[in-house]
Parts: sequence; structure tokens; C-alpha cells
Amino acid sequence: ASTLGAAAAEKGRYFGTAVAAYKLSDSVYSAILNREFTSVTPENEMKWDATEPSQGTFSYTSADTIVNRAIANGQKVRGHALAWHSQQPSWAQNLSGTALRSAMVNHVTQVATHYKGKIDSWDVVNEAFADGSTGARRDSNLQRTGNDWIEVAFRTARAADPAAKLCYNDYNTDGQNAKSNAVYAMVQDFKARGVPIDCVGFQSHFNAASPLPSDYQANLQRFANLGVDVQITELDIEGSGTAQATSFAATVRACLAVTRCNGITVWGIRDTDSWRASGTPLLFDGSGNPKAAYTAVLNEL
Ligand code: XIL
Repeated sequence: ASTLGAAAAEKGRYFGTAVAAYKLSDSVYSAILNREFTSVTPENEMKWDATEPSQGTFSYTSADTIVNRAIANGQKVRGHALAWHSQQPSWAQNLSGTALRSAMVNHVTQVATHYKGKIDSWDVVNEAFADGSTGARRDSNLQRTGNDWIEVAFRTARAADPAAKLCYNDYNTDGQNAKSNAVYAMVQDFKARGVPIDCVGFQSHFNAASPLPSDYQANLQRFANLGVDVQITELDIEGSGTAQATSFAATVRACLAVTRCNGITVWGIRDTDSWRASGTPLLFDGSGNPKAAYTAVLNEL
């Protein structure tokens, strides 16, 4: 196959990208998006600050643009993200306790209901564990509402949109370490107690300080063995040339080696679309030309 999406489809996977609504009018951007990708993740448009800027007032225009366009083009949608400590509206940042818990539950219900039937997979909870060796939950206003906030979010999302696959998503969980061990224990516990969870997302933001881990495949596999799908959700790899291409290929190879790794999403299209302040971490250069990393990914699929 001659595109990322078609090549991944031959392996039973999707190949997606993060999309920013304001870039859809850029014809170079939208041409690559239409040609190469079979899944989209709104980069910011579904976050709490975007969808509920004031309490109880919902704003879906930008996210709807992305979702409706994707569906018209036959692309899947990854919803991102219902509950997260970051990019909260200021009114939510200023809540705590039962008021915040209720606001979170209402937010999950409203947003998941609005998009009911249109979302392949939802990142229900994003980045709820701490970095480092503790294996603890990340301290946040949501965590301070009680340790059960994550399972409440998942049960609420399931009730609102029973057909969507519900994912937990995080970074620095790509290899086996204290943080991924803690997520693993949570998923194992959810499965044992019947808390609805269908998938785990591995953001996979790699750079020199935090490269593709040597046990990446083994880590994806151990989660899959718990009975969830695994997805690479925000892939980008700093670097250039052959070294970068080799890392992208190895990442794709690891996913393909895990039966339940059912999709890969890169976090942007061109290097100039990246959220990273500097560097060239994506598959297309600033002019929209495919890089060595693109060819390596396509050849690996
Ligand atoms: C980033 C977006 O790419 C930026 O545009 C925004 O300013 C900050 O958020 N982990 C996530 C994503 O789950 O939502 C983040 O996206 C990148 C890190």
C-alpha cells in the first residue's frame, strides 16, 4: 500500500494523527490528512477548557468540525480527553471536593453523550499517575476528590456512550517502570472488579532523554494480556535522518508484534505542527514532504 492508513489497514490497524481545527483550511495540511490517515484525535478541541469554558455551558464547534469531517472521510475518531488535571477551565481549577466531583461527572456525561456513536475510543482519563519511582497517583484537584475518581469517570463514560472503547492514557508508561507498573495494577484491579476499561494508550513522546524503551513491546504485551487493547496515542520522536527513521520503524514493529495493539497515532502531521517547542519529531517536514521517518514507517507496515 502507498499510504500509512492503507498499509496499516492491511495489518488490521488504524494509523492516525492529532488534528488542530484551525489548520483544516491549510490545503497542504488537509491534503496529507485526507490521503494518509484513517483516524484523528482532536489535539485540544475536546479538552475540558475547550468544551465547557464556563460551568454548564458547552462549546463543541471546533471539535464538531474535526469529528464531522473525519466521519465524512471514513476516519475513526479518538476522543481526547474527558478527565485530566491539565487544560481545565479556571472555574474547575477553583473547585474541590464534592463540587468538583459532580462537575467532573457532569462533564463526562455531557461530552460523551454529545459525541455518542461517533467515537471509536475515548481517552477517559489522561495522565493520572505520578512520574518517578513512587507508583503513586499524581496529586491533582481531581485526585483530591477521592481515589475512586478514575473508576467513576470510566463508569460514567460507559453509561453515556456504551459503544465507545474506553481508554486510560499516559506518558512515561511506555516501558516497564514504577509508573507503568502502577497503571498495570489499576487495569488489573478494574478488570477484576468489573470497572469498564477497554484500552490503554501509550503516548510515546520520545526524545534523547527519554528514548523508545527496549522493553516497549514487552510492556505493550503485558497490558494486552490483561484483556485490553493497547494503542500508541501521541507518537513523536525527536531527531532526524536515519536515527529517527530507525526509531519510528522500531516503534511500529513493536505494535505490529502485539496482536491487541490496534492503532498508532502520531501527534501532528508536519514538523511545524508539533506541540514541541523545537525539533523535528514528526513524519512530514514543514513543507509537507515525507521524511525518511515516513518511508521507514510505511516500509515497516
Ligand atoms: C498538547 C497539545 O499538543 C498542545 O497544543 C497544547 O498546548 C498542550 O497539549 N499529552 C497529552 C496531549 O495528552 O493532550 C498534549 O497535547 C501533549 C501531552
